[in-house]
Amino acid sequence: MADAVAGEIRQIIEAAVLARGHVLLALPGGKTPLGIIARLVQMPLDWAAITIIPGDDRLVAADDPLSNYGMLERALGASGARIVPLVTQGLEYHASARDASARLASLPWPPDLVWLGMGSDGHTASIFPGPDLEAALAPPADALALGVLPDPLPPEAPVARVTLTKPAILSARALILTISGAEKRAVLERALAQGVSSPYPVGRVLGDAQSPLMIHWCP
Ligand code: 6PG
Repeated sequence: MADAVAGEIRQIIEAAVLARGHVLLALPGGKTPLGIIARLVQMPLDWAAITIIPGDDRLVAADDPLSNYGMLERALGASGARIVPLVTQGLEYHASARDASARLASLPWPPDLVWLGMGSDGHTASIFPGPDLEAALAPPADALALGVLPDPLPPEAPVARVTLTKPAILSARALILTISGAEKRAVLERALAQGVSSPYPVGRVLGDAQSPLMIHWCP
């Protein structure tokens, strides 16, 4: 899966550089991306033309192990790509999201790629079932980013977050979703069959995607 996804992302990058001279990528947090990014960073790409944002991030310091921005900096910081944080240190999550929306709008929007992961509860980016779901799916004034405080807090990262919203995700020229394991495959198959009426956020977000969506699964 890592070779296949890294190859796809390389093609997206090379096509975007050819077409527009720059690339904007939104990358997922969590563990699945690590092996894929490790392959991608070995590739001879025009890294100076690439801007990277986390598709979602936790409200923690950049050097906190929970920080997706910190993970991207460690994995890609030496590549020459520009890595732009989603979270503004020192702001609470709603203010941080407002700051993020303004920062994202100043980038060469829309993204050429939004690459997503998925949790076994069907969350994607930091769009979780629960109190913030509807606002993330249909944000006020089409905000590009939203501050969320999942309830219940996910055990792997029990903190507030800033996430790309559904309109921001679906504005991407291309979408990639990577998942692993039988449980997540069953959840994803159910969610995509249910589409936008799914109880799973991933179905609500991707059920009416218009851009090409590449889904990769490994056991
Ligand atoms: C996050 C991620 C999240 C992640 C899934 C899957 O910040 O937690 O963006 O959406 O992609 O939770 O995580 P794993 O790849 O670790 O299973």
